[in-house]
Amino acid sequence: MAGVYFHIPFCKKRCRYCDFYSTIDLSKRKELVGALKKELHLRKIFLNDTGIKTVYFGGGTPSLLTCENISGLLQAVSTVYNVDKQAEITLEANPDDFSLDYLHQLKKTGVNRLSIGVQSFSDDDLLFLGRRHNALQAIEAIKYAQDAGFENISIDLIYGIPGMTLEKWEKNLETAFNLNIQHLSAYHLTYHENTGLWNDLKKGLFSEMDDDDSVKQFEKLVEVAGQHKFELYEISNLAKKSFYARHNSAYWDQTEYIGLGPSAHSYNTSTRYWNVSDISAYMKQIKQGFLPGESEQLGLNEKINDYLLTRLRTKWGVDLKYISTNFGKGVEEQLIFKAKPYIKNGRLKKEGNILKVPLKGIMLTDQIISGLFF
Ligand SMILES: C[S@@+](CC[C@H](N)C(=O)[O-])C[C@H]1O[C@@H](n2cnc3c(N)ncnc32)[C@H](O)[C@@H]1O
Ligand code: SF4
Repeated sequence: MAGVYFHIPFCKKRCRYCDFYSTIDLSKRKELVGALKKELHLRKIFLNDTGIKTVYFGGGTPSLLTCENISGLLQAVSTVYNVDKQAEITLEANPDDFSLDYLHQLKKTGVNRLSIGVQSFSDDDLLFLGRRHNALQAIEAIKYAQDAGFENISIDLIYGIPGMTLEKWEKNLETAFNLNIQHLSAYHLTYHENTGLWNDLKKGLFSEMDDDDSVKQFEKLVEVAGQHKFELYEISNLAKKSFYARHNSAYWDQTEYIGLGPSAHSYNTSTRYWNVSDISAYMKQIKQGFLPGESEQLGLNEKINDYLLTRLRTKWGVDLKYISTNFGKGVEEQLIFKAKPYIKNGRLKKEGNILKVPLKGIMLTDQIISGLFF
């Protein structure tokens, strides 16, 4: 089974921390929807597996599309592939785009999972991040979605924000869990080059949170989540059992997907493809019948590294049996050799055939992965 990702590259306003590709010119929405359908047809043979188990509308801000747009895109997917009756269909949404009427219509399109970008339940943080909604609007958005009948709701929160105390973070978490959500994505604030926050940080207008405080916030996240029966199943993702994000889990599982729209990526186990991050260039090339991007054939080392990079971030870890079956016994032996010093100093643990990062050191996963790379 495979996945389909639509990148909807529109935002009413750019947030100060974000470097996802989007434009604030909303006038091209209808034209983009047409181009996405055309790209779907042009790219359909990219997937070896034509059974679709997840569709994901990400952005940018997919909640800036009309429900008619969304239905049209879902119908287009069904004409090209076999969409599973139980498919997970997720839409990312900004809290201030929701009205009860929109949500009722959205429910009828087949979207059955929402990922709402709350970021924080504190107005100070929202102002600092340059969000266009306040905390009350975020709470209302979640309640509206529940009233409209959505039973699988995820929210995004950001921690490690300058000035965010541990108490404030804990309060954010309690507010989130008390809203009866099913899934939480919690990201440490990252400063991306040339974003508003990055520029202000470079000017010395504020300082980054120090590492000890970041670790304490991460530990608080896991502790409070556990009290509410949420499990950390990936470094930034927590859920009640049976509510793991199936689309994202597929990325960590080497499942094929096609990504449609400017800046979207596609993967079919042997090739990776990425579209141009420019809506005008994207639409021009699609109109002419070309695929607007570049591709890379994946060699053995890239495949191994991809597997390590994605799996070590999850609770499932790296399966040495999978490594030897798919990449060869020699690769398994080399990996065990590379892992030895990390196992010795406790930064990795080996349980039977599984290599994992212990929860305590999970924030250092990226450093460990780069030490294991082939
Ligand atoms: C594609 S974005 C947002 C979807 C939607 N447009 C919104 O803003 O609500 C997905 C999520 O990535 C997270 N994110 C984006 N940039 C980040 C950064 N620099 N640091 C931490 N989290 C970030 C935010 O939590 C955001 O909701
Ligand atoms: S966080 Fe969401 S709304 Fe803000 S700029 Fe990024 S994609 Fe747009």
